[in-house]
Amino acid sequence: MTNPQLEGMEIADSVLDLIGNTPLVRMKRISEVEGITCVLALKAETTNPGGSSKDRPALEMILAAEASGELKPGGTIVEPTSGNTGVGLAIVAAQRGYKCVFVMTDKVGKEKVDLLKAYGADVVVCPVAVEPDDPQSYYSVAARLTKELDAYRPNQYDNPNNPVAHEKTTGPELWRQTAGRITHFIAGAGTCGSITGTARYLKEMNPDIKIIAADPEASVFSGGSGRPYLVEGVGEDFFPAAWEPDLLDDIIPISDEESFLTARYVSETEGILIGGSGGLAAAAAIKVAKEADDDAVVVVFNPDSGRGYLSTVFNESWMTNFGFLKECDQCVGAVLDTRNASIENLLYVNPHQTVAEAVELMRANGVSQLPVCKNTPPFANAEVSGAVDELELMEVIHRDPSVMSTAVEKVMSSKLPTIGVGQKVEMAVEMLETAPALLVLSGGRPLSVLTRTDVLSYFTAIAEDAAARG
Ligand SMILES: Cc1ncc(COP(=O)(O)O)c(C=O)c1O
Repeated sequence: MTNPQLEGMEIADSVLDLIGNTPLVRMKRISEVEGITCVLALKAETTNPGGSSKDRPALEMILAAEASGELKPGGTIVEPTSGNTGVGLAIVAAQRGYKCVFVMTDKVGKEKVDLLKAYGADVVVCPVAVEPDDPQSYYSVAARLTKELDAYRPNQYDNPNNPVAHEKTTGPELWRQTAGRITHFIAGAGTCGSITGTARYLKEMNPDIKIIAADPEASVFSGGSGRPYLVEGVGEDFFPAAWEPDLLDDIIPISDEESFLTARYVSETEGILIGGSGGLAAAAAIKVAKEADDDAVVVVFNPDSGRGYLSTVFNESWMTNFGFLKECDQCVGAVLDTRNASIENLLYVNPHQTVAEAVELMRANGVSQLPVCKNTPPFANAEVSGAVDELELMEVIHRDPSVMSTAVEKVMSSKLPTIGVGQKVEMAVEMLETAPALLVLSGGRPLSVLTRTDVLSYFTAIAEDAAARG
């Protein structure tokens, strides 16, 4: 977009001209600490006007919809999104005179809603606790609004212009910025727009460039079922339209724990504030760079800023409650260590098992409550959906003995309160005043159930130990 009035001056014609051309910066301090001898560089997508890589597809999708006539002057854009894509669309919409309506669930934090409203967008909040085909669900509301408002729905998961944006911009930028010497490109994948589009261009220029996806451990791209994991924006439970596995040389699964700890490590060591998905990609890139030859040029794609994760990845109590950080040495983990080792670490029932089976499991192991977990085994993939408690089961069976053959999910109660393996024992004591038991998390995953008896045994062991030592 050229404007003769701006000739010779460094003034962008509009904010849209500031999308893309993000800098590449060497991760010099991390390289020193990790003994990395090749070039390891980070593509800093935070310098896009909306602070993320999603400005690129937002612009491309809207320009394509204008060209095809799907989006008319003064028209409306409806998209179910709460994140970076919403910001990108809102920026382009503001500049080109469209109205934006974003549909999201009530699970989304107020900050994210306020951010989109700040750009002049309308936000419709739907209840998260309804089935997808419920008229109130976020899918149904987005579909109804698109129809009622005769709106354009970009649908980034299906839209071919999402990867095209990266094929046209991110790929050529990396080729130019590395003088064609890039050897490895590492990125997380959500819609797969970034990795697929960038890979198409880079492989065209040099088929030997290694394209590596960093993926949350439970996501489908690295062979998981899609859940559960906590890192946001990457990994999926289905394969989006832009998933092109032939372009990938490797897929490295990374745990939530490693993603979050690496995000903090990179932020503190380099002074580059990155989020959980940036941490995920950086963790994979560090592994690759450590193994690479000295003449390798390894580029990691950082999609957005850590600023969006101040209440999670960069919040001490959130990180400790999920068992990612420890606040003491003698903490909840020590209580578990002193417990009778014959009890399996996590006893659970599946939601479809019967009440009779749950009762039998409790009796055989002498426990009075069990978490209800889906997706097990493998145990590491446990997704907790509720809990059953001896007292509650006794009441329902007393009222109706036929309930014994009913699936546990029909009678289960809400989930047990959670505590991190590295939280203080005092916290467990406080929580157990009102809760019958706690679910202990380690690395974001359920590790064990903690009861009042466990804590009492721990205190007894400490007292006995002290007495024995005189
Ligand atoms: C916040 C966020 N959104 C989305 C993505 C994934 O990008 P794409 O949807 O292009 O695959 C990433 C990638 O790391 C991300 O961190």
